[in-house]
Amino acid sequence: MRGGDVRLIDDPADFIRTHTVLQPVPHAPEIRLYVADEITPIWKMTEEALGELGLDPPFWAFAWAGGQAIARYLLDHTEEAAGKTVLDFASGSGLCAIAAMMAGAKQALACDIDPFCRAAIALNAQANGVRVESVIDDLLDRPPPAVDLILAGDICYDKPVAERVLAWLATAHAAGVRVLIGDPGRTYFPRQGLAHLADYQVRTTRELEDFEIKKTGVWALP
Ligand SMILES: C[S@@+](CC[C@H](N)C(=O)[O-])C[C@H]1O[C@@H](n2cnc3c(N)ncnc32)[C@H](O)[C@@H]1O
Repeated sequence: MRGGDVRLIDDPADFIRTHTVLQPVPHAPEIRLYVADEITPIWKMTEEALGELGLDPPFWAFAWAGGQAIARYLLDHTEEAAGKTVLDFASGSGLCAIAAMMAGAKQALACDIDPFCRAAIALNAQANGVRVESVIDDLLDRPPPAVDLILAGDICYDKPVAERVLAWLATAHAAGVRVLIGDPGRTYFPRQGLAHLADYQVRTTRELEDFEIKKTGVWALP
């Protein structure tokens, strides 16, 4: 990824409000996010057009199936997050961090490498009446932070990303951190060695996915 040059857009929050619609997350409708849809088709912009605006592909403008599954799981199993310090790794919109706060987390930090996520996370957290801190950085280059719980929604879509993230999550787990992964059967998701917690039939969009409904699981590092 390029690392979005947010300088080319004066006001990221204004850009987000203009190009997205605040709407309920299909599998966690308690949460509303600013997402792209057929009426505001920033997903259809070519990489070249996005590049001229200084934007990475806007991962933050979609509630990915893996993140939706984690959000549903936390809202239905609030004991996983209640009172905990939480890191939403590769947060995109901040969906998992928001779900953790709604489940009673003490504190949630959302982390991504796309600078545009900072504004998206702030807007989405505000829309749901929760407080979420954000950090725009590649945390994989350093030891995992000392939090109680790490959430990783839909991080196995790309081989190099998946390999780095899974190794880093294993290090966190070895240090005593609870790790939850949400995944809709992406190519680089490890199908063994994880504790299966739940399956959901998650509605996504054919703009991005091969099927409108994707069976999506939540797993814990055992
Ligand atoms: C498919 S999206 C998932 C977003 C969100 N977790 C969800 O489920 O809706 C993947 C996200 O991973 C982020 N990402 C990729 N590599 C990363 C890294 N090294 N550190 C943090 N975020 C990263 C991307 O910028 C993107 O926002």
